[in-house]
Amino acid sequence: MATAASNALKADRSTYRFPPGLHKNLLWFALRKFRPANPIHLFQHLAQAYGDIAHYKIGWHHIVFLNHPDYIREILVVQNDNFIKERTVQRSKMLLGEGMITAEGAEQCAQRRAAQPAFHRQRIPEYATTMVREAARARETWRAGEQRDIALDMMHLTLNVVAQTLFATDLRDEVDELADAINRIMGLYNFLVMLPAAEWLVHVRPPGLAAFVRARRRIDAVVYRMIEAHRRQGTGGGSLLDLMIAASPDRSADSERSLRDQVITIFLAGYETVANALAWTWYLLSQNPECERRFHEEIDRELQGRLPGLDDIPSLQYVEMVMAESMRLYPPAWAMGRYARQDFQLGEYFLPAKTTILMSQFITHRDSRFFRDPLRFDPERFTPEDKSRRTKFVYFPFGAGPRQCIGESFAWMEGVLLLATLAQRWRLKLVPGHRIEPEPLITLRPKYGLRMEIERRTADRQTAA
Ligand code: HEM
Repeated sequence: MATAASNALKADRSTYRFPPGLHKNLLWFALRKFRPANPIHLFQHLAQAYGDIAHYKIGWHHIVFLNHPDYIREILVVQNDNFIKERTVQRSKMLLGEGMITAEGAEQCAQRRAAQPAFHRQRIPEYATTMVREAARARETWRAGEQRDIALDMMHLTLNVVAQTLFATDLRDEVDELADAINRIMGLYNFLVMLPAAEWLVHVRPPGLAAFVRARRRIDAVVYRMIEAHRRQGTGGGSLLDLMIAASPDRSADSERSLRDQVITIFLAGYETVANALAWTWYLLSQNPECERRFHEEIDRELQGRLPGLDDIPSLQYVEMVMAESMRLYPPAWAMGRYARQDFQLGEYFLPAKTTILMSQFITHRDSRFFRDPLRFDPERFTPEDKSRRTKFVYFPFGAGPRQCIGESFAWMEGVLLLATLAQRWRLKLVPGHRIEPEPLITLRPKYGLRMEIERRTADRQTAA
């Protein structure tokens, strides 16, 4: 496989070598058949028909879809310098502005460096305490026999956790409004990504996009209130928000906008992904009673009825394996993309600058070459031995390389602690007939929510007695 040095190669058009794929112009075919309805169907088709690498064009634009760990590693790690985020991510600037996910180059490095201390080891114990406290509070509000939308509950819970841990702010009174505004934006997302000149249109505000602009304004208002409140209290607390305010050069309009972009990015990246991971985990547990039994059994054995803490995480190994397997089947970040700055070599292919590279965790994680019987839910795939035997880059829920998720350890800790705290008391059963379908928006959500019935666990009744 080529090295980054080959990126510098200049080529005449005729010297490009494209992978096999749909070489006819796909614009209308792709638009009508696969997008915006469900881009996963297009990726499934490409993986089935062409295997490791496939090429297609939309208009004059070259797109290459990857489904092999060597290619994925080459783009995300080896040749990372030659790539920026692809168009869909660039377009999410309409909501996120220039935060860590959408920024590039020096700006992205500076933001990542400034945020890093908030994810350091010494901060972790206090985060763990907050996570468990919020989950314990949530479980008190549930009632035996009631039906709840657990996807929504997980959103509210993780939103509170991010607000309190990273931004030292209590958003409980605003959580409904925020979640509602974010849901509205998500609902419009696929439409906006496909809309020509959407970035310009949101400024003109045609009636169809007014809802987006209104929702964004509501989110902004909450974010600016958080920033102001911290400024008033003084920023000595050391939260991520304090670090961001301290790193902001002045209070000019540009600096304020940049601060807003940074806050909103971590906010959205930090709650929506974990919420979806948890929602899918509850769903999968409800469908796999033997795994659910082992999961409960480990929690009861290790915790003996007390709330979990940071020190319990190593012994809640099965809980972590369940979460890992859930993110294999339903990866919250279900696809990623890059855009080439320069011509580049990829294996035996030579591709032009401005090619878009797409890869999908949803597709690679379900490939039978990498996971036997891939559609079966089997947490045993994530024992330490199995993990160390597996080729890297066949499982990449948090991405890889220099732009790998900054919140990965935070997410694992939060996932394990929230699952254990809630499952200690409650068992969640899918309401019969409730329709489950993954919806690939910015993250992979259960399209119709997740209606579950709450059942009090015997172990909890015994502890209470
Ligand atoms: C299960 C939970 C999560 C999943 C599946 C996830 C997934 C990802 C993935 C795949 C990327 C890389 C995107 C790319 O390279 O194109 C990413 C980046 C990022 N994530 Fe996460 N994430 C999760 C939780 C979190 C949390 C809890 C936070 C913050 C508290 C966070 C903040 C970020 C940020 C800021 C980036 C951009 C990093 C950069 O570009 O330098 N994520 N995440």
